[in-house]
Parts: sequence; structure tokens; C-alpha cells
Amino acid sequence: MLLVLKPNSEELGREAARVVANAIRRNPFLRLGLATGSTMLGMYRELVRLHREERLDFSRVVTFNLDEYLGLASNHPQSFHHFMQQNFFAQVNVAPGNIHIPDGSVKGDYRQYCASYEETIRKAGGIDLQILGIGRNGHVGFNEPTSSLGSRTRLKVLSKETIEDNRKFFAADEEIPQCAITMGIGTILEAKRILLLASGPSKATAVANAIEGPLTASVTASALQLHGEVTFIIDREAGAQLKQQEYYQRVLEMTNILTPERL
Ligand code: GLP
Repeated sequence: MLLVLKPNSEELGREAARVVANAIRRNPFLRLGLATGSTMLGMYRELVRLHREERLDFSRVVTFNLDEYLGLASNHPQSFHHFMQQNFFAQVNVAPGNIHIPDGSVKGDYRQYCASYEETIRKAGGIDLQILGIGRNGHVGFNEPTSSLGSRTRLKVLSKETIEDNRKFFAADEEIPQCAITMGIGTILEAKRILLLASGPSKATAVANAIEGPLTASVTASALQLHGEVTFIIDREAGAQLKQQEYYQRVLEMTNILTPERL
């Protein structure tokens, strides 16, 4: 695990975009796992700038989004489809056929649909770099506390806490989705490399639990401890409850000396 501490959310977004851009420059066919949420906005803004000003080319990149609310049409303003379109896809040159986002309007056999999403990832050759945010309760994707650490893409009932966090985005309470389709923890752990971004004081407990707490299904981000190539890029506020900050700083300095090309 590598921890990169940034002073604020703007720098965090720039750093994340730099890692993604470098990965694309090394492999123009990158299979990139994407996430939504306010934490991601700075990264997408910077990627759009790199596309416009430095010709970062997404034309052969293949993307897989982590999750989508169940019951929201793709043009619903709070759907993750809409978020991705507005903040990223409409402004860069990812080929429409290379974009994959779970379909929240799917009806009927959810299991089959979720299995087909997994199959699409598998057929593409797996995910090279997966971007993650983190929920206040330590979830990644929509893998709420007590999700199986081996779980695959599936329908997931949202926790009260997550529904509460989403309330502000919906005009009427009845509109707030109760369920989502999300990649599972097992799916996420198969990505070759993982980048988790966290910003702001509301994420400090989740970040400390994920990095320094025990491996537990109660904080599904702690499952990342099982992965060999994880980088956390967090800002000061999100890192405020970490106990071993000095050590992480030393690790980062040594890593930069020993393997400067890593980031
Ligand atoms: C939702 C998404 C997560 C995201 C989280 C945090 O729960 N399913 O993937 O990490 O929100 O969002 P924000 O960055 O807005 O705090």
C-alpha cells in the first residue's frame, strides 16, 4: 500500500489524473475502472484539461464504471450515467462502444445481468487500473458494511447511512434509490492496480479504518489490504485520523527514491 497525502482536494484531483494519464500513455488500450461522487470531480476536470491541452488520447481506452442506482434511467440527473456523461465522457474522446456502466434501468433477471457485466470485464481482459472513492461507512462501490469480501457484481440494498447521504441530491424522499448494482469486492480486488481517493473530514474515520483497522466486512475498503498494488491519494482532512502519518511519509520518500517511475 502506498499513501500519498495532498494538502487539498484540488491537488488530490490533479495527482489522481496524473496517475491515470501516465497509465494511458504507457498503455493506450488501458482498461480503466471508474467511480463517481464529488471526490472524483477534480480528477475528471484535470483529465479533460489534459485531453484538450496535452492531447491525452482516450480513443482506445476501455472503461468500466463501478456502480449505478437501480431504478434510475440513464438520463436521470442523479444517475451515475448522467454524472459520467456530464463530467467526463462528453468532454473527452472515449469511444462510446468502449464505455461500460451498469444499467440501472435493467428489469427482470438481475443476476443474469450482473453476471454479464462481469463477463464483459473478463472478456476485455480484466481491469488494469481501478479508481475508487470511499463512503463515510467505509464502503467502496456500493459494497455496504457486511458485504462479502469475495462478492461479485450484484444487486445491493443501500444502507440507511448511504441513503441519508444521498437525500440532498433528490427533490422528494420517494425518489431516493434504495438499491444499486455494484461491482463486488472480489471484482474490485481483481483489478491489477487500485487507486482510492478520499477528501474531507467526513472520510477521516473511514480512511483510518480502511488502512489501519482490521480486515473486516464492516468496512469493506479494508479488503484493499489484501491487494498488492493499492495507492491511497487523500487530502489532509481525510487523513486526519491516521496514526502512522510519519511512517507513511517516510515510505513515500523511500519509494520515490527507489522506484521513481512507479507513479
Ligand atoms: C457513492 C458511490 C461511491 C463513492 C461514494 C463517495 O456511495 N457509490 O463509489 O465513493 O459515493 O462519494 P463522494 O465522493 O461524493 O463522497
